[in-house]
Amino acid sequence: MCGIVGYAGNQDAVPILIAGLARLEYRGYDSAGVAVLTRGGLKVHKAAGKIRQLESSLPKRLRGNLAIGHTRWATHGEPNDRNAHPHTDCSGRIALVHNGIIENAAELRAQLEAAGHVLRSDTDTEVLAHLIEAAGEEELDQAVRRALAAVQGTYGIAVVDERHPGRLIAARNGSPIVIGVGEREMFVASDVAALVRHTQQVVYLDDGEIASIDAGGFRVTTLDDRPAAKSTATVTWGQDAYERGTHAHFMLKEIMEQDEACERALRGRLDAQFGTAHLGGLNLTARDLLEIRRVKILGCGSAYYAGIAGAHMIEGLTRLPADAEPASEFRYRNPVIEKDTLYVAVSQSGETADTLAAVREVQRKGGRVLGVINVVGSTIARECGGGIYIHAGPEVSVASTKAFTSTLVAFALLALHLGRVRDLSPAQGKRLVDALQKLPVQIREVLHTAEQIRVVAKRIARFTNAFFIGRAACYPVALEGAQKLKEISYIHAEAYPASELKHGPLALISPETPTVIVLPHDELYEKSLSSLEEIRARRGPIIAVTHPGDERIPTRADAILQVPQSEPALDPILLTVPLQLLAYYSALELGRDIDQPRNLAKSVTVE
Ligand code: G6P
Repeated sequence: MCGIVGYAGNQDAVPILIAGLARLEYRGYDSAGVAVLTRGGLKVHKAAGKIRQLESSLPKRLRGNLAIGHTRWATHGEPNDRNAHPHTDCSGRIALVHNGIIENAAELRAQLEAAGHVLRSDTDTEVLAHLIEAAGEEELDQAVRRALAAVQGTYGIAVVDERHPGRLIAARNGSPIVIGVGEREMFVASDVAALVRHTQQVVYLDDGEIASIDAGGFRVTTLDDRPAAKSTATVTWGQDAYERGTHAHFMLKEIMEQDEACERALRGRLDAQFGTAHLGGLNLTARDLLEIRRVKILGCGSAYYAGIAGAHMIEGLTRLPADAEPASEFRYRNPVIEKDTLYVAVSQSGETADTLAAVREVQRKGGRVLGVINVVGSTIARECGGGIYIHAGPEVSVASTKAFTSTLVAFALLALHLGRVRDLSPAQGKRLVDALQKLPVQIREVLHTAEQIRVVAKRIARFTNAFFIGRAACYPVALEGAQKLKEISYIHAEAYPASELKHGPLALISPETPTVIVLPHDELYEKSLSSLEEIRARRGPIIAVTHPGDERIPTRADAILQVPQSEPALDPILLTVPLQLLAYYSALELGRDIDQPRNLAKSVTVE
């Protein structure tokens, strides 16, 4: 949510910043800006809209070797030029970009105004620029330190001051900042995506750290001015992984990568001989696992839906009670934390503020949390201290796809591992291992049906409302299908357990409201067919997402999307893929901005 880029070196910083901001645009895309230290002093340019609007409004001769830039997802103040970052102090010599929220901004603003500062925007961020000015310190890092001491809230910031040409200050509390180490040049960003084309060597700031950076290097200290020892890490993914390649959208690219993502999630983790899974990062012994009496999964958005599906797998295969809850609700309801409950935090980015807060709430009360995370080294991954990396690779599209299915694969591995410590027999374990090994090929088969799904999507795009229904472990599949459709096509879509349809929503079924029914050949199949009949009796159009083989379906559904059959526990993974493509092609038909849907952002690092 919001993107930061900074540069200190000997090249012209402007094109580096613009390219870096374009890489981060998925984090926020309602306005953008840059501050460049030119020969004539600090110059700030901002524009509402996307990076290309900013780029086309920049003066041709804007050049400098030190600069910071920002792409915004508005929290305080509407997205316009004035509220875009960077923000400056009264004199216009200090410029600052910020991710996060300053919670005591109103109070600080009143104090600054009483002291004669004139603030020009509606943002919480601007107070920080003025606080740095008011600090009256000679050294920029000391001024930033003093300003931050007055601030409550979360931040990742980058600051430049024309009185200190060549110097860039960055600091972090709750919102990521990474330093990119180049050859006589240094980079700062909120996300490695902006850096990988320049360097693979990075240093992650931790909360409460501040970095003083120039072209030759950097020095990290704590907010109370003690030196912090930092080590350099090498970025796992190269530049290609962050490129769209030949695909029209990142979302399509990421959907099409799911077979490989699944392979990576499984690599080195299956044990065919003992019918189990090896998960090296759990940091839990078999004895620890035996003590678990319950599993509670926490996440937001698609990560939460993946958690519901994961809870079904775990409860089904381990016979431990398992459920999922939105992390955003859990963190505020003063939850009871039990020592024999295993808490699992799910997050693609590993930075979602609500999920992070839920993890801290569990840990503060003495509970044990594992992370199911995509981004290696992210905050939640580090704070959990154990878990499963899904290794889906960079996910850029706001609508999550490969992270969802890879998370389900990770839950299947966890359920298998936990199950085999408990009552799951070696034979059952081996069946699952076998089925998991087949998954990448089966996903590929579904991806090959994209053109058929596209034809169905063209019909869906004509409607303004849709229902998605499924039962038991396929209810979260329906939830995720509806979520995908609404977030990128803006068609109103609601998911229900198929069994609940008759208790209310059936009133809305008509020829104008299609229903997508998730219909695996499981023990509830015949019961789901009854729901299908109830819809048909009301002349509701039906799209069945199902396995091949039942000759009754072609006469009862208006369209059929088929996926190969797996073990029942794994069916939700395969059944999700056509729904992603259905949403994608519906949005494409409607001409939507698929990778950057309105009002949304990829990673929500504020409450
Ligand atoms: C945002 C995104 C969703 C995502 C959710 C959780 O709302 O738009 O697509 O599922 O955050 O993100 P996480 O990174 O924690 O999985």
